[in-house]
Amino acid sequence: MAADSYHLTTFGCQMNEHDSERIDGLLESLGYEPAASAGEANLIVLNTCSIRESADRRLATQLGNAKRFKAARPGVTIAVGGCWAQSLKQEVFERYPFVDVAFGPGQVDQLEQFLVSDSQKAQGFFEFDGFTGELPMRARQDAQAWMQISVGCNQKCSYCIVPSTRGLEVSRPFADLLAEAETLVARGAREITLLGPNVKSYGRDLRPLRHTFSELLAAVDAVDGLERLRYTSPHPQDMNLDVVSAHVELESLCEHIHLPLQSGSSNVLKAMRRTYNRDRYLARVEMIRAAVPDISLTTDIIVGFPGETEADFEQTLSIVDEVQFDAAYTFLFSPRRETEAAKIEDGLVEPAVASERIGRLIEVVQSTADARAQRFVGRAVEVLVEGPSRTDPQRLRGRSRHNKPVNFDGIAQPGELVLVEIEAATSTSLSGHATLLASAQR
Ligand code: 5AD
Ligand code: SF4
Repeated sequence: MAADSYHLTTFGCQMNEHDSERIDGLLESLGYEPAASAGEANLIVLNTCSIRESADRRLATQLGNAKRFKAARPGVTIAVGGCWAQSLKQEVFERYPFVDVAFGPGQVDQLEQFLVSDSQKAQGFFEFDGFTGELPMRARQDAQAWMQISVGCNQKCSYCIVPSTRGLEVSRPFADLLAEAETLVARGAREITLLGPNVKSYGRDLRPLRHTFSELLAAVDAVDGLERLRYTSPHPQDMNLDVVSAHVELESLCEHIHLPLQSGSSNVLKAMRRTYNRDRYLARVEMIRAAVPDISLTTDIIVGFPGETEADFEQTLSIVDEVQFDAAYTFLFSPRRETEAAKIEDGLVEPAVASERIGRLIEVVQSTADARAQRFVGRAVEVLVEGPSRTDPQRLRGRSRHNKPVNFDGIAQPGELVLVEIEAATSTSLSGHATLLASAQR
């Protein structure tokens, strides 16, 4: 077996085939040679698709195999690209901790960055679609589009790889973003999500004219034909009244805020260099709920940060109960290369303790999310149709403005907005039937 051997499996459509050709070319230019099978390769690449369930099942098998190969030969690197990775984003690492790097369609460059960096010990990173205007437009024809508004970050969260890999924050020019939003809508987008590591600080670096994030929201909201606007993620420190007011004033801006918490313990937040404490986070939540009482709040939480005691962890459990999040992504702390937290040696949390804690956290998250979801039962909510339901192809699937997946009975095309009367709700999804009611209760 060659020292640098790889095996690539491609699922899905022509676009993936094309990306795979580029991956082959890239790996060969880096000195990798094809292995006869995944079991013999040092690098296993799965270029995924999320169109059909049969592809999901094949992928599950391949992922299971890759995990076994890695258990037998710990040096193996596992990379997952394509639409399935894009749809799960960071959750890829949460659900499949043996995956080293994940990247979206058209992001073969991200794989290169990962492979040429000096350490593969640390878990990989996920970046959203590329930054400049050179993105392949072909991936941008659906009703939901993403727009990267900035890269890099001026914060110094001690666990985070973004400042070292992407450097200081650079905002894309205001006029470029508006032009891109108009193009996306002209091509059929009805919903746009603005992306950045710290969206709320957008525009501070723009010269000669600074623009605020709220101005950007207002300008994109005004694009004719745009129905829904979202953004992710704001740093809680910057989440102030102008953005919260935008949720009241701008019609397209959805009733959902993803506000990464990371920990409920002020001590741990301090060690993470998050620049807010428990009380300040709670004050932000209060301000948001005072302005938009029905808003959905979701969050990210890291469990097992070095130095996290049982008492600290209980503070996280209690804040989840207090805030009543609609959903939370939970992550086990993983030391990433070139981060301050990766160098901490004292107070490391045993893996068994960390996984026991994350299990308890997920239980609390699920029960609060379930309780919160019940408020939609009996309401008619607006749903942006995505396609057939994954669990029952006779039904349809879409997303509400509150960002809840909705499975429903009815007839509609992907990209249409329909009203769905909600009959049942769980922590992760709503279920109901399409209705002809004239007015939606958002
Ligand atoms: N370990 C665990 N989780 C992390 N995240 C970022 N870096 C790490 C890390 N080193 C999580 C944070 C962030 C989300 C995108 O990923 O919760 O909000
Ligand atoms: Fe910036 Fe977010 Fe990373 Fe903190 S966690 S450094 S805010 S990208």
